[in-house]
Amino acid sequence: MPSSSLPLRRVWLPAAGSAALGAALLAFFGSGTQPAIGQSQDSRPAIAEAGTTIGVYSGRHYNTDKELYRQFTAKTGIKVNLLEAKDDALIERLKSEGKNSPADVLVLVDAARLDAATDQGVFQPSRSAALQRDVPANLRDSQGRWYGLTRRVRAVVVNPKLVNPTTIGTYADLAKPALKGKLCLRERKSPYNQSLVASQMILHGEATTRTWIRGMVANVSQPFFTSDTPLARAVARGECGVGVVNTYYVARMLSAEASAQDRQLAEQLKVIYVNPSHVNISGAGVTRHARNPQAAIKLIEFLASPTGGRGYAAANNEYPLKGFGDNPILKRFGTFKADGVSVEQIGSRSKAATLMMESNGWK
Ligand SMILES: [Fe+2]
Repeated sequence: MPSSSLPLRRVWLPAAGSAALGAALLAFFGSGTQPAIGQSQDSRPAIAEAGTTIGVYSGRHYNTDKELYRQFTAKTGIKVNLLEAKDDALIERLKSEGKNSPADVLVLVDAARLDAATDQGVFQPSRSAALQRDVPANLRDSQGRWYGLTRRVRAVVVNPKLVNPTTIGTYADLAKPALKGKLCLRERKSPYNQSLVASQMILHGEATTRTWIRGMVANVSQPFFTSDTPLARAVARGECGVGVVNTYYVARMLSAEASAQDRQLAEQLKVIYVNPSHVNISGAGVTRHARNPQAAIKLIEFLASPTGGRGYAAANNEYPLKGFGDNPILKRFGTFKADGVSVEQIGSRSKAATLMMESNGWK
């Protein structure tokens, strides 16, 4: 999930053997005493040097992400200074910092947000043979401004006491009149839903998607939800019969870190991967004013690699870029067939999708 209403959080990740914590924090957040590596395109070194410190702004906020950054430092000698905050706040911060930004990498979740950041010019294009190899073409920007790192699936959750799971095979089935009063949806402003609608516009065209939205809205009886977890709980309690959520929320409710109550609720849910499923990503790119672009791309390569990517996906019960991973909770949900839609295209249609939702009753 995005870091909903969290304030800016600065996290220092000491490399093994690092002692000068205070001084390093000062150097990073204070005064522009960063080593002047790669300050211009022409003076960039060919190889990122061990000992470089890169700044990472991340809209993800999972404790296990930090372990991945530590592994990267151990592997490369490149240190990571992490700032986690809400996606929009990070984009605004990058814009206001401009050339003085200490950030080299920006990590965001969802196609709609990556597209918004791209539009606002906070990324720079980068090229990498490793990323071309490890990130499927539909999960990265065609100009190399961002690269997918993990996959998340927008799935249907059903309470089998109220809705027969075998009646749901596609997103289109959510608009069937048989589900009147039984469907729960999250608000229009959720980028997850904007991206879902954009994907349906790409796959099925505007007219079909408009009819689909109207059918779903006619089936909704509850107020639109502000986030996925309360929606999943409402389906589990039987307040709704069916809803749409990213599966990592259900996985989190089933995990050891969840409350006993949430685990009990999640056990009531049947997760359905409709065919084909809408797949979204968390992704990262090199910032426009990165001081260490070579080191930055090395981090993105590490996080997209089979080794790093497994950990990054596991941190949030997401799927790696390829295959289904080995998360035992996700295995309970079975496998999915991705719709294969380009995340870049989804991003570029997200504004049109939002307008269509608004004009057809999606609150
Ligand atoms: Fe999320």
